[in-house]
Amino acid sequence: MTRGVLVTGGAGFIGSALVRHLVERGDHVTVLDNLSPQVHGPGSGREDETACLRELVHLVEGDVRHRPDWDRAYDGQDVVVHLAAETGTGQSMYEVARYSEVNVTGTAHLLDLLANSEHQVSRVVVASSRAIYGEGRYVDADGAVHHPTGRSRAALEQGRFEPEGPDGRPLTATATDEDARTSPTSVYGVTKATQEQLVLVGCAALGIDATALRYQNVYGPGQSLTNPYTGILSIFTSLVRRGEHINVFEDGLESRDFVYIDDVVEATARAVHTDLPGQRVYNVGTGVPVSVLEVVESLGTLLGRAPAYDVTGTFRAGDIRHNWADTARLQADLGLVPGTGLRQGMEHLLAWATQFEPAPPTRYRDSLAELRDRKLMA
Ligand SMILES: NC(=O)c1ccc[n+]([C@@H]2O[C@H](COP(=O)([O-])OP(=O)(O)OC[C@H]3O[C@@H](n4cnc5c(N)ncnc54)[C@H](O)[C@@H]3O)[C@@H](O)[C@H]2O)c1
Repeated sequence: MTRGVLVTGGAGFIGSALVRHLVERGDHVTVLDNLSPQVHGPGSGREDETACLRELVHLVEGDVRHRPDWDRAYDGQDVVVHLAAETGTGQSMYEVARYSEVNVTGTAHLLDLLANSEHQVSRVVVASSRAIYGEGRYVDADGAVHHPTGRSRAALEQGRFEPEGPDGRPLTATATDEDARTSPTSVYGVTKATQEQLVLVGCAALGIDATALRYQNVYGPGQSLTNPYTGILSIFTSLVRRGEHINVFEDGLESRDFVYIDDVVEATARAVHTDLPGQRVYNVGTGVPVSVLEVVESLGTLLGRAPAYDVTGTFRAGDIRHNWADTARLQADLGLVPGTGLRQGMEHLLAWATQFEPAPPTRYRDSLAELRDRKLMA
């Protein structure tokens, strides 16, 4: 069945790929996006994509913080996919009001609209994040489960990067399932947790089906090549191509679950079109942890040039050590196992990124200085 679908943030990395997919399925798609300069600025690689999007769908240039902009986009929709957000973990620690206004107040406007106006929306899908778990799920030597609340500054300064149990004993990271305790360590994570709760609780009260998709680290063609605040694979790609130096935090062994854009689009489209009722939460990841060091070295291999990097032992406030998804629920309910391997996905990312010659300058160095100046990096 085709649907009227409003995609907020639909001009962004995940949004624009999703929009293409939904249009191919026959859905009638509207996009609400403010074309944030941090994401869409010169050199981002996104300019042509946005021009194509204007041809493909109704693009409402507007801001989720402004209720009248929602009004312009909202008529006749069956499903809302809410992706618009500020997305940088480090930046969220010193742009707290902006992150709260866009991510939390922006979502509150959607719920006000659903509660107070005539509409036919029967389902909301919200982009949540693995950031809401914080450190996620660990076990100790006896097999007891722990959800560490975060790492102290003192421990990080001593190079004790792995989360520890309450009595200081060593823990082992495991895949994090959806029932794990949410315990965000960054302002970004707090806003994503709030956004998710607003949608699940608000929609339940209104009898609207709602799904929160907790994306892991998404990567692939189309991710901004210049936004230094998020998307390490695309930023590191630009840095390696430019021969610029990469600061690898901690000991480089911190790990992430890198999930390819096509798999994320498929999961999101299935959440749009499912008939499953009620309020649901899914991890969207591969279930495979990869260290940051492995990523830097693989990029160098694939690009055919040695990356310039140092493993510095420095750390950022708000960062977590490891997190990867338990994907059993995604598989059981939506029938999907994100299966694109990192090497294959990186090849697609690099084939796209290397079209842009020369590699664009990023504000990577400035973004680190911004953290250092505020003592959010040490
Ligand atoms: N990319 C990832 O690794 C990842 C991981 C977890 C969660 N997410 C979530 O997925 C969603 C999409 O992320 P993405 O990677 O596509 O990011 P993106 O930055 O590429 O896209 C976000 C889009 O939202 C728009 N936007 C920002 N502020 C807005 C505002 N005030 N009003 C209207 N539009 C606004 C931007 O212009 C952009 O087009 C976000 O909610 C993000 O938190 C992404």
